[in-house]
Amino acid sequence: MAMCKALGRFYTSEGHNASWAAQRGKILFHSGMCALSRVVLGIETSCDDTGAAVVDETGHVLGEALRSQTEVHLKTGGIIPTVAQQLHRESIAGVVHDALRASGISPNDLAAIATTVKPGLALSLGVGLAYSVQMVKQYQKPFIPIHHMEAHALTVRLMEPVDFPFLVLLISGGHCMLLVARGVCDFLLLGQSLDEAPGDTLDKAARRLYLAKHPECAAMSGGQAIEHIAQRGNRLHCEELRMPMTHSLDCNFSFAGLRTHVNRLILQKEKEEGLQEGQVLTCVADIAAAVQHMVTLHVAKRTHRAILFCKKEGLLPQKNACLVVSGGVASNQYIRRALRTVTDATEFTLLCPPPRLCTDNGIMIAWNGIERLCAGLQVLHTAEGVRYEPKAPLGTDISDQVRQAAIKVPRLKLNPEVK
Ligand code: KG4
Ligand code: ZN
Repeated sequence: MAMCKALGRFYTSEGHNASWAAQRGKILFHSGMCALSRVVLGIETSCDDTGAAVVDETGHVLGEALRSQTEVHLKTGGIIPTVAQQLHRESIAGVVHDALRASGISPNDLAAIATTVKPGLALSLGVGLAYSVQMVKQYQKPFIPIHHMEAHALTVRLMEPVDFPFLVLLISGGHCMLLVARGVCDFLLLGQSLDEAPGDTLDKAARRLYLAKHPECAAMSGGQAIEHIAQRGNRLHCEELRMPMTHSLDCNFSFAGLRTHVNRLILQKEKEEGLQEGQVLTCVADIAAAVQHMVTLHVAKRTHRAILFCKKEGLLPQKNACLVVSGGVASNQYIRRALRTVTDATEFTLLCPPPRLCTDNGIMIAWNGIERLCAGLQVLHTAEGVRYEPKAPLGTDISDQVRQAAIKVPRLKLNPEVK
């Protein structure tokens, strides 16, 4: 089978996308490009990644460009919104240009432009939206406003034929939610974080542990650094940490208490080792392993309850039900292994996009644009008057119903690799 110009290797390697696209029977190649298939440009600037991609309706990625701000924010000790805004401003034109050039598609031939407009950092969202408004006007193209978390939830459908409804766990730097995806813009919210998101907790723990001082972690996000360092740690050396929310039988999450405990533990260990501020603990890997483990247990427990709730209420097909996991934290292999134990025990299929598509990127936005274009959902003739929304809920909230069901989750023996 012919490969797409820029990223075909990426998608055909799993074997899924080729058959998914073929099943839809829409692939027509001409001079290495997909002809006759509608093509959408996606633009992502909701947080600290400037991304753009050109994707066609068979799910082929024709071109992509991504510029990460991670290294800058590691130096400043976290994302400073005005700095993120400035970096998006400096990158946006180049990133869009690179994605279009890699695709070989002229802006005139786009079927639509899709851009993240919610939720996210106001100043970051504003850059992508302002750029899109101008482009939509210049090329007279339809505009598709995108909800960032909806895009994370649907990315998996670019990879393989996952039918609605499915259960989806979204774990990122800004969000933590369990949803039943019933359609492109039809979600039931089973539970969400009551305070911070797991990525935020991991980022802050990594910063507090000075992980960026380890040369091999210098360019990694906090979550990535925790996963990397935790591989050589033993969480049993730090048994002080506890899984959050053991007494509430719902599908909500909480990570703020865990972060407080982690900070207290680090302070105590620093005192024991007689360290000055900025010096790295000898037991840093053990703490990283313990934090990662507690985040994992909490996420796995709530997800297990969500699966049992869906079974009880008949919200998903009795056979071949899927759990999709996405968002930056879903790149974490330790968390994936624990979730596999849960899906094996409940006869669900676990599906995760590759790490590269779990973290923010333009491809997921372009694909969400394709999904909305095909479904005829919120395809606007102009981008004038569209506002960005830093906070934006997703789905119909049925978390009260989940809490009232008060489902007890049986203890599971985790996969031996989840030590
Ligand atoms: O989805 P994403 O790219 O941006 C948001 O929408 O927030 O997620 C970013 C988050 C960061 O907190 C980052 O530390 C975390 O995803 N992350 C990870 C890993 N890679 C990225 N967390 C745990 N393990 C990883 N391998
Ligand atoms: Zn994200």
